[in-house]
Amino acid sequence: MKRDFLTMADTPKELIESLLERAGFMKQNIASGNKSLDILKGKSMVTLFYENSTRTRCSFEDAGKYLGAKVVGISPSGSSVKKGESLIDTAVTLDKMMTDVIVIRHSIAGAPAIIAKHTKASVVNGGDGMHAHPTQALLDMYTMRERFGQIKGLEVAIIGDVKHSRVAQSNIVGLSKMGAKVKVFAPNTLLPKGIENQPCKVCKNVEEAFKGSDVIMGLRIQLERQQKGLFPSIEEYNHFYGVSMERMAMANKGAIVMHPGPANRGIEVDCDVLDSEMCLKDEQVTNGVATRMALLEWVTGSRG
Ligand code: CP
Repeated sequence: MKRDFLTMADTPKELIESLLERAGFMKQNIASGNKSLDILKGKSMVTLFYENSTRTRCSFEDAGKYLGAKVVGISPSGSSVKKGESLIDTAVTLDKMMTDVIVIRHSIAGAPAIIAKHTKASVVNGGDGMHAHPTQALLDMYTMRERFGQIKGLEVAIIGDVKHSRVAQSNIVGLSKMGAKVKVFAPNTLLPKGIENQPCKVCKNVEEAFKGSDVIMGLRIQLERQQKGLFPSIEEYNHFYGVSMERMAMANKGAIVMHPGPANRGIEVDCDVLDSEMCLKDEQVTNGVATRMALLEWVTGSRG
């Protein structure tokens, strides 16, 4: 069976709900030490990462192995991509090896969709340019649901480099689909064109962002993707937009801090906040494996 998972925009609410539910089952298995399920026995999976990754790549590879799949990881530096092979030719080559699932990360928006058109394998988007990172949104939603019981009605403030963030794009779409109220807060230079047409409120000041929020999601300043001069200095950015203990006091009682990682410590989120109990960055990483297990089961049509 070929099922692709490319964006939150084309993922129905019912599918998100069922994947989150199933991730709970996967998490229970991992927590009880059972990392040898045979749900993907006989299947093969390739991770094709054209951009650096620790969390997404490792968690997909662990998820595939825990489900019993054969897993191969490819990096451009160690493959024929280095000899000039095109994206499509690489994908077709993997297809001819009867690969069942390709998880791809690429700097170009739309690259996973192109691969999906040229292969019989199920294609999963592990992050494409500034476009989408739907499995990060899935694990973020799982983490919120686990803490608060449900996503509907939560107020989530996404703070930071929204313009360059595929995590923000996928969370805005996914969370609003699930009934959360999404807010964004960033310097104008770090907001994408057309943000006013997305299902989120653009906050004008720090009070609007923090007051009433259940979840504060800090985003990494993506120094590698942006031109210089989008904000005057790192220090000034932290002063006006950083997530601090003082600002968290404005949020709802029991509010949590999330960060997709990797974090620039002390820039988008202060170190004492990152290391406090209110920050669930480590739970996000743990939940990444369980949610990706649920997703791999779905894309391969392996659920009985
Ligand atoms: N959150 C995330 O995508 O992290 P990696 O770049 O380490 O995969």
